[in-house]
Amino acid sequence: MILLSGPASIELGRKIGVELGIPAEPVEHRIFPDGESYIRVAVDVRGETTVIIQTTSPPQDRHLIQLLLMARTVKDLGAKRVLCVVPYLAYARQDKRFMEGEALSLEVILRLLENSGVEGLVVVDVHNEDSLRELRGGMEVWNISAIPLLARYLRGLGYSGALSISPDTGALGLARLADQELGGGFRAFQKRRDRKTGDIMMWAEDLDVYGRDAAVFDDMVSTGGTTARAVAILKSLGARRVAAACTHALFLGDAERRIKEAGADHILATDTIPTHLSTVSVAKLIADHLKTIKL
Ligand code: R5P
Repeated sequence: MILLSGPASIELGRKIGVELGIPAEPVEHRIFPDGESYIRVAVDVRGETTVIIQTTSPPQDRHLIQLLLMARTVKDLGAKRVLCVVPYLAYARQDKRFMEGEALSLEVILRLLENSGVEGLVVVDVHNEDSLRELRGGMEVWNISAIPLLARYLRGLGYSGALSISPDTGALGLARLADQELGGGFRAFQKRRDRKTGDIMMWAEDLDVYGRDAAVFDDMVSTGGTTARAVAILKSLGARRVAAACTHALFLGDAERRIKEAGADHILATDTIPTHLSTVSVAKLIADHLKTIKL
């Protein structure tokens, strides 16, 4: 197997390589003065299963184009099989036409990958696994979860027995996974977002967290509005400590400040998008998964 790390995931690629005991080769790249990406794969991939690691964090469009350039090039160079590890898959939230005329962004991205020669796609905590499966076309897809790692980290901070809670019912599975580590039960808030203004309404009935620890688990924090609202409700109900954990740390603008001001005692994320909040690495999780794939 040949491991290639794309410009967006050089450090994560290196760590995955260490876990697998093979070097991750960074592809050559630069940005032209007009903003376009140049990619060169100088490694001999002929006849080899080639795994490309490239997250699609902001700037998403640039990182996506780089991923497509790498995939097509590797295919053209005669790789036996092209697999992509995309820890954070951009555009995954637009997995349905919520309003008539909207682009079905997730499907467009998946078709672009498939048409660039990608046969297998590994993602971490994709927004909606059912949509990923439904729209995968001819690609094999694997969605792996970093939530147990985040929950285990919180256990190390004394959160055993904490209530695991997701900000909406769609993410209840994340709270359920976390509960397997924390053991204090799991719940989901009800959430409605106004599709035009982006305003959020959030509520939960019969939520008993008075004097207890609680941890909010979500796939991502973007503007921080969702997590801040969840943390504020838990604090207002008398929760002792509240942790805010997510897999993908977009943390746009003042997201971190909003969550802190809502009362979060701990904020943590993984390195699918590397930030100063990425206390948990998904390198071993991904490496272990790659070992299970028939290459
Ligand atoms: C939405 O359903 C996602 O799972 C996240 O809850 C959402 O994207 C977070 O966005 P924000 O941080 O802007 O509220």
